[in-house]
Amino acid sequence: MIYAEILAGGSGTRMGNTDLPKQFMMLGSKPIIIHTIEQFFISGKFDKILVCCPSKWLTYANDLIEKYFPQKSNIILVAGGSDRNETIMNGCKYIEKNFGLKDDDIIVTHDAVRPFITQKIIENNIETCKKFGATDTVISAIDTIVESKNNDTISNIPKRDTMYQGQTPQSFKIKELMTLYNELNKEEKQVLTDACKIYILKNKTVKLVPGEVFNIKITTMHDLKIANAILMERTK
Ligand code: CTP
Repeated sequence: MIYAEILAGGSGTRMGNTDLPKQFMMLGSKPIIIHTIEQFFISGKFDKILVCCPSKWLTYANDLIEKYFPQKSNIILVAGGSDRNETIMNGCKYIEKNFGLKDDDIIVTHDAVRPFITQKIIENNIETCKKFGATDTVISAIDTIVESKNNDTISNIPKRDTMYQGQTPQSFKIKELMTLYNELNKEEKQVLTDACKIYILKNKTVKLVPGEVFNIKITTMHDLKIANAILMERTK
């Protein structure tokens, strides 16, 4: 089975919009999250599409999904977790409980706030994950990356042609992802901001898949303005 998991369990504090988590804010004529779900829905590659939202926004999200996907048969709402990885795990546990897990079952996890995901990226994630078990979507670093361990002076300037910027989707064989995550201790879980890092900590291979510069994550109001400009350019 191939599952999509749309990660919408955050509250969007950096957006500064306290009333409505950013994934529900409008982008053009539709909420951001609807643009994102649409891409997974039309792909036709997924047995089920899990949409993970904060518990208190589940009814709101359900109303949105009923409005935009009246034929929603394979879209399932799941409560998100306390951090991004916990949200991913809530989806995996839901799958395990309701559908069972086979070794080759795959989950394509994607930020709800990256609405410009393409079909090519989705297909590449699925095919690469089938072969390698774990994938991360990246683009080459555009700016030089400067490391500062003390947040004050430079400790290192890595060679730019070995640097990438992480995007999503990140895709995994679900059973292995759950096993590796469950092996981490509490401290390791707390410092993990990225699901692929679970594999890195366990010395496992994560294969890269090319993303797109426009596959942006909407984090701030400025990003939302850029996203609206991208959308307007496309509908010209
Ligand atoms: N996310 C999630 N569950 C969490 C936290 C984040 O599913 N507990 C999701 C967000 O909804 C978002 C994606 O992970 O789609 C990327 O995270 P980020 O941009 O950091 O979102 P927020 O946590 O909502 O933003 P902020 O850090 O500004 O509060």
